[in-house]
Amino acid sequence: MKVLGIETSCDETGVAVYDTSRKGADGLLAHAVYSQIALHAEYGGVVPELASRDHVRKLLPLIRQTLGEAGLGVADLDGVAYTAGPGLVGALLVGAGVARSLAWALDVPAIGVHHMEGHLLAPLMEDDPLRGPPEPPFVALLVSGGHTQLVAVEAIGRYRLLGETLDDAAGEAFDKTAKLMGLPYPGGPQLAALAEQSDKAPGQPGAFRFSRPMTDRPGLDFSFSGLKTQVLLAWRDSDQSETTKADIARGFEDAVIDTLAIKCERALDAAACDVLVVAGGVGANRRLRAKLQLMAERRGGRVCFPRPALCTDNGAMIAFAGALRLQAGQHDDAAVHVTPRWDMASLPAVAA
Ligand code: KG4
Ligand code: ZN
Repeated sequence: MKVLGIETSCDETGVAVYDTSRKGADGLLAHAVYSQIALHAEYGGVVPELASRDHVRKLLPLIRQTLGEAGLGVADLDGVAYTAGPGLVGALLVGAGVARSLAWALDVPAIGVHHMEGHLLAPLMEDDPLRGPPEPPFVALLVSGGHTQLVAVEAIGRYRLLGETLDDAAGEAFDKTAKLMGLPYPGGPQLAALAEQSDKAPGQPGAFRFSRPMTDRPGLDFSFSGLKTQVLLAWRDSDQSETTKADIARGFEDAVIDTLAIKCERALDAAACDVLVVAGGVGANRRLRAKLQLMAERRGGRVCFPRPALCTDNGAMIAFAGALRLQAGQHDDAAVHVTPRWDMASLPAVAA
């Protein structure tokens, strides 16, 4: 079945078509993302009302463009999937309204997808020529701008929360730390790029060492908000040169990455499992990917990531997650309904 996926939970409009008759990445017939970064940059963060209005402007043209790239017309669609939460309520309603209307007009089923389930399942779309896509049970690390969670995935749709952040999400910590050092919004990728500069002379990658929060006690929860205060103090007391800025960025990135890796390994031990799946915007971080890869190799296990473009928000993951549920016969009734706060553990299992 050919499923249209629509993502409008925050500041990216994402549209894709996934065809379940093909395997893995081959099923992704087309996908396009329109980022609102430039719109929100002057405010230093996402302005919800502007986000909703821009989704209204961009969604229909993006659907036309994506269908065109897939060589399809609307009549070829067998189902529609849209992000129903968590996210900004106005932004979600734009996607849900369009998805519902389209499904009604075409008389095809539609389903509201949990945004984090979309992230979590994205690595299953990727081909691994030797081992194939990961299959449950596995442990998932979800690291985005709004969430930092370790989840035991017992089956598709059966999720058990092992640990989560008590304050800032990992991506939020990247963004806030970048902002306090004067980097433009959204700071995460900029801070990561700056941290890479620390390797070049006269940079000193080990010059700043910040704490690895909550790794000195048992448990799988995270806390990242104290790190930005440590960075703020180091930044204020420094010469604020470009080299120092890169070294501080590196110190911060190392602290976040080490903390995530330590907790991932603990979670694998707790779940008696050796397969780790990583998803969400921070999963695009090159040094996090390398660190988790090393950890997995050392354990004789495996770590799976989506390609970087499918780590950050996109319609492909929504089309894919929705297609799995639609294929299993699940769909929602014809009301335009969104769930801005939504616990992933409350989702029904997917029995194909
Ligand atoms: O999953 P996502 O696109 O949106 C949410 O659902 O939140 O994640 C966005 C987050 C932002 O906080 C962004 O700064 C962070 O992911 N991010 C990164 C990198 N690329 C995106 N953080 C660190 N390194 C990166 N390369
Ligand atoms: Zn996301």
